[in-house]
Amino acid sequence: AQRKPIVAGNWKMNGSVELVSEIGSAINECKNEQVDIIIFPPAPLLLKVVEFGISVGTQTVSEFNSGAFTGELSAELAKQLGATHTLVGHSERRIIFGESNESVADKFAKAQENGLIPILCVGETEQQRDAQETEMVVAEQINAVISKLGIAALLNSVLAYEPVWAIGTGKTATPEQAQAVHKFIRDMLSKQSEHVGDTLQILYGGSVNDKNSKSLFIQPDIDGGLIGGASLKADAFVSICNSAL
Ligand code: G3H
Repeated sequence: AQRKPIVAGNWKMNGSVELVSEIGSAINECKNEQVDIIIFPPAPLLLKVVEFGISVGTQTVSEFNSGAFTGELSAELAKQLGATHTLVGHSERRIIFGESNESVADKFAKAQENGLIPILCVGETEQQRDAQETEMVVAEQINAVISKLGIAALLNSVLAYEPVWAIGTGKTATPEQAQAVHKFIRDMLSKQSEHVGDTLQILYGGSVNDKNSKSLFIQPDIDGGLIGGASLKADAFVSICNSAL
């Protein structure tokens, strides 16, 4: 199937009003119909990104609707502010903030209920890879969503495979390593729904930069990237976006 590439920039807790202007202008110069570019800035910058006419998402959302949840971010409000997507289950949320597969599935559901497209992030730690548990871990992370919502829920979502050992370490998965996991995921999904397996966009994340992006993006089951550090530098990010064409 022809799947449209996505290049997503996850700023994590970085960036500024100035950076939105710098990167927003750079993106608008290179924007192209053939790739979807989405920025995930810290939530207070959402509206600023929207002003540039660039697709924007949140880095997480609450599994609750509204109420006494100090500090949480509602999917409904994110949508009102112009967000189109949200990350769910980023490994930093799982590891630092203790999100379980179940709460990630709840967040995924809440995002879709409010018209946001969830980007479900999955991936193994170095220890799990060394113990040959990569496929099991990734399958469990995905199956938590499928068992709650059904396979069809994935039609309106995106997946991001991010090996934890590759995030922010400069230690990118090789194109072959990444492709192997992406293919495993796609085959696993195809067994339940050929349509989902064919059409679901699966992004790779973990130390993607302007030097290695092309070799990753040309892999048959890799449909773009989720970029951390390199999404904070206009030149690097723009050339990563161009390499997805
Ligand atoms: O969401 C982005 C990933 O965590 C990758 O981060 O590109 O800095 O390794 P990184």
